[in-house]
Amino acid sequence: MDQAKASAPGKIILFGEHFVVYGEPAIVMAIDKRAYALVETRRDGKIYIDNFKDLGASGYFEKNEFTLEKGGKDAEKKLLPIKTAVQKVLEKTGNNIGLNVKIDCSIPVSAGLGSSAAVVAATAKAASHVVDAGFSNEEILNITFESERIVHGTPSGIDPAITTYGGVMLFQKERGFKQINAKKDIPLIIGNTRIRHSTSELVSLVRQKREKYPRIINALIKVGGIIVIKAVTALENNDFSVLGELMNINHALLSSVGVSNQALDRLVYAAREAGAYGAKLTGAGGGGCIIALSSLEKSERIAKAIEKAGGKAIYAEKSDEGVRIES
Ligand code: PMV
Repeated sequence: MDQAKASAPGKIILFGEHFVVYGEPAIVMAIDKRAYALVETRRDGKIYIDNFKDLGASGYFEKNEFTLEKGGKDAEKKLLPIKTAVQKVLEKTGNNIGLNVKIDCSIPVSAGLGSSAAVVAATAKAASHVVDAGFSNEEILNITFESERIVHGTPSGIDPAITTYGGVMLFQKERGFKQINAKKDIPLIIGNTRIRHSTSELVSLVRQKREKYPRIINALIKVGGIIVIKAVTALENNDFSVLGELMNINHALLSSVGVSNQALDRLVYAAREAGAYGAKLTGAGGGGCIIALSSLEKSERIAKAIEKAGGKAIYAEKSDEGVRIES
């Protein structure tokens, strides 16, 4: 095959961020915003990656040499996970051909919506088709996890799994992933503060707070786990009113451990006042996004309220499809 296009979804964390680091469960959901990767063969053995549209970076990798096309000094680092994924596909299939990779991503970057893992998974899937190997989901997950680890240290592995499999998943460090049977659409409004955050800095902020007040913070973490268990039942029963209340309690816990801020709180309260069932920050906090659980009738009002409070509103729904070939 000369070329293949694949896509993979972004994600939001519905419940349990941060507390998941300390062994409690979390619920994560794939959303209908996707990253697309078009991969085609090239004759000269180089790997050319164009992710200018989203990351402002493009360039050529040849062995371990990088030649910049566009994007300044950070370009190589930004493109490294994509290049690693391509290299792993080529190594596993015994190929040493050159490839062009063109990324088109509708998931906002650096907002905790899993754009990086989605781009890598879509690239790995498309590349595996170009070399006629057509990797399984399990192989795509492994490649995405390993490629992401290079840049993001040791993440919990939430993003690679949800972008590969789609749907709604329960995750716990010791137990891994389990699909949750959430039948109905789950209409969410994402509110992006447009403030970039560093997940590792926020994770370490919580760690410091836990070291200072171990009994208090450990108790909050435990409550976080109880919320998740209740939320699984509410999701299976399509009980949006309980889900919304649980989101509000979860947000208060995240505020208590220090990862919310004024920008996030403004969007959360605007969404609630506009009639959301509930609203909370999603992901690491300190910026990034909130999610509001909406009904179809109220979604426009909630989106407007989020925009008025200074955020960018994005309509999002559950996506049951993970990584897939497009053509
Ligand atoms: O990177 P984000 O914004 O999706 O947040 C990651 C979730 C954390 O629980 C804060 C960290 C982790 O690795 O689970």
